[in-house]
Amino acid sequence: MTTRAHRLSRALALPLTLVLSAGALAACSSGEGAGDSSGSGGAGEGGALKIALLLPESKTTRYESFDRPLFEAAVKAECSDCEVIYNNADQDATKQQQQFESAVTEGADVIVLDAVDGKSAASLVSNAKSQDIPVIAYDRFIAGADYYVSFDNRKVGELQGQALLDALKADGKTSGDILMINGAPTDANAADFKKGAHAVLDKSDFTIAGEYDTPDWSPDKAQSWAEGQLAKVKGDLVGVYAANDGTAGGAIAALKGGGVDPLPPVTGQDAELAAIQRIIAGDQDMTIYKAIKPEAEDAAKAAIALGNGDKPEAKDDKEGVPSTLLDPVVVTKDTVKDTIVKDGFYTVDDICAGSFAKACASAGLK
Ligand code: GAL
Repeated sequence: MTTRAHRLSRALALPLTLVLSAGALAACSSGEGAGDSSGSGGAGEGGALKIALLLPESKTTRYESFDRPLFEAAVKAECSDCEVIYNNADQDATKQQQQFESAVTEGADVIVLDAVDGKSAASLVSNAKSQDIPVIAYDRFIAGADYYVSFDNRKVGELQGQALLDALKADGKTSGDILMINGAPTDANAADFKKGAHAVLDKSDFTIAGEYDTPDWSPDKAQSWAEGQLAKVKGDLVGVYAANDGTAGGAIAALKGGGVDPLPPVTGQDAELAAIQRIIAGDQDMTIYKAIKPEAEDAAKAAIALGNGDKPEAKDDKEGVPSTLLDPVVVTKDTVKDTIVKDGFYTVDDICAGSFAKACASAGLK
């Protein structure tokens, strides 16, 4: 179906008020107007598309620093007159619902949604579907979506758990307490990270002395929870499983504040610059690098295909949703150079700025 036919069939399914307001907004949009009248947009058969990108939060640096600019650049590269409507929900599921609804009102042809709350997002998907607007579940799974692109998130948890066991072995530890700081209970990925990590850690001889699902992935909440646990585990603490770099930062602040010395190994995820610097400095044991560029580019291609009524390529499947699942990569002090730096995610200068120069030199990075 062409974009215009697609819009028309959707308009027929919309309540009249919505059609009128969408029409009024569409008339104001130069990008869309040009695409509609010439029919010669970069998206090929369908012309210019309006693509909504809705991201979940901004505390984790990936979204504003990587996902958004990489997605926007990939759309422009494939379709110069396509328009991206962008919004960030700041971890607020109600705000995200409003952003989703206004994307529909603004005439989005396709919505790329990284859901704050996976469960409530399923009803947004089915509403959009009834109006013939395809939805891509971006990074976090949503049941019923038209397409899903992410990483193998259970594997992320397994790799984190295994890296923690490897670090404990290297420290000569065979028993002791581990604290587990998981992600947000509303995030579908967090459940997969947790399952993967448990699958590895539960088989070990270490004791999971305390476990916390961090609301909103908040580093501050992770920190205060860890502070509260320190008195409980006392000298038996040997390691901390933290599901991402933000919560790892919170845990490390709690450990340092509580005078824990030397620091036990702490895991992470997202390859945030601050985390790579902590790894180089020896404060954090590892992180998971997810190459966001291929993820964002894949989502952009899929959005253009779906917006034009075509099916995106998908070699994987998750719960009946055609999917692309990319490979997560473990990063430790020894592999920063061959992973993050090699891929151009950060330069050595980014990592080794200011006070990190010395640690970089002893890690052989500079
Ligand atoms: C997950 C995502 C991670 C991390 C986390 C915190 O869903 O896969 O990469 O960003 O959310 O927002």
